[in-house]
Amino acid sequence: MKTILKVENVTKRFGGVIALNNVSVDVYEKEFLGIIGPNGSGKTTLFNVITGFIKPDKGRIIYMDKDITGMPPYKIARLGVARTFQIMKPLENLSVYDNVLIYALPRSKDVDEARDKTEKVLSLLDLWSRRDVLAKDLNAVEKRRLELARAIVGDPKLLLLDEVLAGHSPAEIDKTLAILKKIHESGVTIMMIEHVMRAIMKISERVIVLNYGNVIAEGPPEKISKDPKVIEAYLGEGFKKYLETNKT
Ligand SMILES: Nc1ncnc2c1ncn2[C@@H]1O[C@H](COP(=O)(O)OP(=O)(O)OP(=O)(O)O)[C@@H](O)[C@H]1O
Ligand SMILES: [Mg+2]
Repeated sequence: MKTILKVENVTKRFGGVIALNNVSVDVYEKEFLGIIGPNGSGKTTLFNVITGFIKPDKGRIIYMDKDITGMPPYKIARLGVARTFQIMKPLENLSVYDNVLIYALPRSKDVDEARDKTEKVLSLLDLWSRRDVLAKDLNAVEKRRLELARAIVGDPKLLLLDEVLAGHSPAEIDKTLAILKKIHESGVTIMMIEHVMRAIMKISERVIVLNYGNVIAEGPPEKISKDPKVIEAYLGEGFKKYLETNKT
């Protein structure tokens, strides 16, 4: 298996807090990697370090055999790394269409190509019928989908998703998972942070678990959900419920 991303011995402190403690993660080309862990365990910080929003105190980020540690976010994005944000920031007074088009334009050879890409992505995300609605008038699920549309319109190779299922009902989760599956099947490598345990266990090929900035477990979902270390660290209601409803 070819490695697309290597996080090597990365440490990041905020004052007295160690957000990431000597974290090493290999991500394989075209895999779907789930990332779980309690609140404050370093998941978003890991994404911030990979995408250049935060410089690690120690360690390296290697993407497609290139050292990208400390590169500015826009340069990393240009190499094909896209992300969504846990806190969404659409341009509230622009339409759904224009919100995506402004991301498509710099990533296309001309306006026609940008319009084509925008239409394709909005259709894939089931937002085409909502294209003229202002971003501020979307519901929470549609806003998450818009965030996802902006992330994928530039055809990324590596896509980092930070809690894109937040605010979804169970039926909406299944719909968004089906969309993510399509994106994955088109050849995109996906890293997904998520608290919805049922979803992460269903869609991930491999899962890593963070706790207090340390990777405490790594492996296929079936193994992770039975790991006593994970159960202890993640004794949140979500995980307990997941285990109860998946007893055989
Ligand atoms: N910019 C920052 N300044 C100061 N402390 C920070 C900053 N970003 C993160 N932290 C701290 O680092 C730790 C890890 O935070 P992080 O946001 O990575 O957690 P997380 O796993 O994404 O949590 P959640 O599930 O709540 O989103 C926390 O203790 C957090 O308070
Ligand atoms: Mg987070």
